[in-house]
Amino acid sequence: MRSGRLSIGPRQVRFEEMVADRAGRRHGVAVSSGTAGLHLAMIALGVGPGDEVITTPFSFVASANCILYVGAKPVFVDIDPASGNMDPEKLEAAITEKTKAIVAVEAFGNPTHMDRYVQIAAKYEIPLVEDCCEGLGGVYRDRPIGSFGRVGVFGFYPNKQITTGEGGMIVTDDDRLAEMCRSLRNHGRAVARTPDEGSWLHHERLGYNFRLSEIAAAVGICQMERLDKMLTRRQEVACMYFDKLMGYPQVMLPNITDKMKMSWFVFVVRLTDPFTTKERDRIITGMRRHEIGCANYFPPIHLQPFYREKFNYQQGDFPACESVSQRTIALPFFNRMDATQVELVSLTLNVMIQREMLILDNQPAPADPPDELPDRSS
Ligand SMILES: Cc1ncc(COP(=O)(O)O)c(C=O)c1O
Repeated sequence: MRSGRLSIGPRQVRFEEMVADRAGRRHGVAVSSGTAGLHLAMIALGVGPGDEVITTPFSFVASANCILYVGAKPVFVDIDPASGNMDPEKLEAAITEKTKAIVAVEAFGNPTHMDRYVQIAAKYEIPLVEDCCEGLGGVYRDRPIGSFGRVGVFGFYPNKQITTGEGGMIVTDDDRLAEMCRSLRNHGRAVARTPDEGSWLHHERLGYNFRLSEIAAAVGICQMERLDKMLTRRQEVACMYFDKLMGYPQVMLPNITDKMKMSWFVFVVRLTDPFTTKERDRIITGMRRHEIGCANYFPPIHLQPFYREKFNYQQGDFPACESVSQRTIALPFFNRMDATQVELVSLTLNVMIQREMLILDNQPAPADPPDELPDRSS
């Protein structure tokens, strides 16, 4: 605050270097949110009306909204239920002449298939945008998250691994794309290489005010300095949950493989098959009644009212995503969570599940099907 530089100053530059470094990239472009970063990535890649962009329905809505902002069409690809990320085979099958980009998300920070997406994008010469808003600090097959796409975007909303209150960061190795994003975030001004260069009132393109303030960048620098400590702590909390929940047969735990080092964003469990949305939602309500905040993370994007109305999506369009989504529960998860709190959440979850099992057991059995199906040919 005392520096006298509250916007466009050295803290933004330092914060950009720190995040870019962590993602193994040459450039970081700080922006006002993850959504703003994705929006600028779409513009910088030249995506526009008439184009299709492939993405996942199992994510936060901004992963698809950024495609609509530029007038293009989101094409959803169903997920592989084990990881929650797009099924690579289905992704490849969805590519058409109109496909202008792929927006791939690390769902809850899980980077599975990122290497396959890179291969597919290269094969069809389509840029891959890594929506890595949920994965800062994670590693997959020895590559840092944020290093897979032609461009990657991190988000620093308060629920993320690090926060700047609001904020985001575009990362890339592409000089031209970085320069374009720097201009776009700053009202389309030319990028000044020296303090005297570039005119404040000269606008080369239609730009936006998506800047990150120096105050937010200063917070970001301090957060980045603590990133490893916070990730270690989050890993410890995740391990405590694994320990406590491992013995509950109705709870499916996050699918972590030896190819990844998780950067824990949230801790999301999934109920096993007999459970549906109805039981899951009752469990969440029951947990909340015991002052344990839980959420139905994520409802599918294609079934959000706006998407249903605009594109006429129906239940059943992306069955794997829907089947996973209707049974997920995000449990309380934060750095300072201690063993007693984890135990309390786990025990309460088990009680709620047992209650649902009793209800399921006491439901009348469905009527036997008739021996012969009625003749419908007439
Ligand atoms: C996968 C994903 N993409 C995009 C965003 C949008 O980021 P922001 O809230 O900073 O705009 C988020 C989180 O909020 C996210 O989880």
